Amino acid sequence: MSASSTARTVVVTGAASGIGRATACLFAARGARVVATDVNSDGLADLEAGLSSAAGAIRIVHGDVSDPADARRMIETAAREFGAVDVLVANAGIIPLGDVLETSPGAWDEVMAVDGRGMFLTCKYALSHMIPAGAGAIVCVSSISGLAGQRRQAAYGPAKFVATGLTKHLAVECAPYGIRVNAVAPGTILTERVARLKDEPGGPEYLESMAAAHPLGRLGTANEVAEVIGFLASDAASFVTGAVVPVDGGYLAQ
Ligand SMILES: NC(=O)c1ccc[n+]([C@@H]2O[C@H](COP(=O)([O-])OP(=O)(O)OC[C@H]3O[C@@H](n4cnc5c(N)ncnc54)[C@H](O)[C@@H]3O)[C@@H](O)[C@H]2O)c1
Repeated sequence: MSASSTARTVVVTGAASGIGRATACLFAARGARVVATDVNSDGLADLEAGLSSAAGAIRIVHGDVSDPADARRMIETAAREFGAVDVLVANAGIIPLGDVLETSPGAWDEVMAVDGRGMFLTCKYALSHMIPAGAGAIVCVSSISGLAGQRRQAAYGPAKFVATGLTKHLAVECAPYGIRVNAVAPGTILTERVARLKDEPGGPEYLESMAAAHPLGRLGTANEVAEVIGFLASDAASFVTGAVVPVDGGYLAQ
C-alpha cells in the first residue's frame, strides 16, 4: 500500500479466520483502522487480542453478512467509530462442496445468501457512504470458481460467479463517483476451511490433486491473497477497476 492509504478505515468481512484474518492483520500492521466482522465471535476475540500491539486501531463486530441489519451494522460501526468507510473487503463466505445431484435446494440458498447476498449487502451499505464521499475502494473475494467451471462446486461455483459479476457491474456503476471495485480470484488456499478437507471423505485426495493442478505445484497461503487485496485497495492501483485478479499459482493460465 502507498503511504497515503495507511490511515484508512477498512471493513473486512469474514475476518475471524483464513484470508479475511490475514487481510485484517495486513491492514492493521500498515496502520489502517480496521473493523473486523464475522459470525465467529471467538475467532474475532482472538484476532482482536493478537492485534492489540498493531499500528492501527481495531473494532470487532459480530454479525451475519446475509442479514441486512447485521450487514448495515458492520458498515455503520466504521462510520461511527472512525468517521469514514474508505475500504471494504467483502470476503465472508462458506465453501460447500458437492456435485449437482448431491446439492439440495437448501444448500443452494445458503451459499447464495452468504456468498452472494452478503457480498451485495455489505457493498451496498459501504457504497451508501462512499458515494457521497466521492471516494472509496472495494475488493470482493471471488475465486477461480468464479471464472471457470470446476467439479463438485454446483452451488459454490455459481455463488462465486455472483462475486465476479457484482464486481464488474459495481465497478462500472461507481466509477463516476471515483470509487474502484475489484476482486481477487484465489486458487486453492490452505486456510482453516481448506485444511479441514483432510477430514472429509475424499478430501486428502482432492487436496493432493488440487496442489498438482496449480502450475506452481502447491496450494497458496492466506497472506499471498491478502497482499494482492492490499494492493487493489491502495492508491497504487488507482487506474484499476472492474478487474478480477487471479491469485492462483497459474491455475487459470492453463
Ligand atoms: N480457501 C480457498 O481455497 C479459497 C479459494 C477461493 C476463494 N475463497 C474465498 O475466500 C473467502 C474466505 O475463505 P477462507 O478460505 O478464508 O475460509 P474461512 O472459513 O477460513 O473464512 C471464512 C470466514 O467467513 C466467516 N463467515 C462465514 N459465514 C459468514 C456469515 N454469514 N457472515 C459473516 N461471516 C461469515 C467464517 O466464520 C470465517 O471466519 C471466501 O469468500 C471463499 O469463497 C477461498
